[in-house]
Amino acid sequence: MFAPDFSTFDQVMKVAKTLADFESARKSLGDKTVGFVPTMGALHEGHASLIRRAVAECDAVVVSDFVNPTQFNNKTDFETYPRILDQDCAFVEAIGAAVLFAPRVEDIYPAGTDYDQRIFDLGGLDQYGEGPRRPGHFNGMAQVVTRLFDIVRPDRAYFGEKDFQQLAIIEYFVKNLHYPIEIVRCPIARAEDGLALSSRNKLLTPAQRAAAPHIYACIRQTANMVGKMPVAEAVRKTTELIDAEPQLRTEYVEIINSLNLRPVSSWDEAEHLRLTCAVYAGEVRLIDNIALK
Ligand code: PAF
Repeated sequence: MFAPDFSTFDQVMKVAKTLADFESARKSLGDKTVGFVPTMGALHEGHASLIRRAVAECDAVVVSDFVNPTQFNNKTDFETYPRILDQDCAFVEAIGAAVLFAPRVEDIYPAGTDYDQRIFDLGGLDQYGEGPRRPGHFNGMAQVVTRLFDIVRPDRAYFGEKDFQQLAIIEYFVKNLHYPIEIVRCPIARAEDGLALSSRNKLLTPAQRAAAPHIYACIRQTANMVGKMPVAEAVRKTTELIDAEPQLRTEYVEIINSLNLRPVSSWDEAEHLRLTCAVYAGEVRLIDNIALK
């Protein structure tokens, strides 16, 4: 019986589950322009939009699928983070990626279970917002992203603006460490009801999922407060609006300078302002942000 050799077709995605497998897959890409979409798996339409854009702009796309232990400051969050590799493989292949890299912890951190001791210069961009609330998170993120960049050696890497602070920090260290990689900013992908897409949404109960779009509905209202009341009052009002939904509990709302990420105290303190927030629905922590000006 005729058995086609799919290995000769570009569109058949390679799944590399070890560093050695990945290195041989990477070699086969030769000097193609490589786009890279790093993920922690449990892929959704938000990841799909990044992968689609990378496929449209690059010759070959690598997607990584690795739940990085060093960026979790909460053990339960790490343990409960959704892991669905088989579904992820089918999802990524259908969009047209060339390689899915799903390494083992020892491939990324060969020095062992103490992981990585490297401390990164994050340009002070980790001092506000998520930084103090998730100690060690951004350094752990920089450890894995630099390790992945060194292994994948992409020409371009694609990140979503939902993790607005992460994106600014990555841009900073890519420049600071002279990585020859173009960082491509991609807009937040939202469900039809406005909820920012996130792997953590899979952990919401039906009641929490129904309540969660309230976050975006509230932060959109803040855009109408710009210049009409003091910044501190807009922060307080937005927090009250979010917390009026019994399923939700605001951890913080900040109005920040979009460039240096510092909270501002007046509307004219910076040319570009952004509202960022973290909100709990039960134990699930959701983040979102919106440009104000
Ligand atoms: O944004 C994420 O999913 C993660 O922080 C990243 C960039 C894949 C690093 O683990």
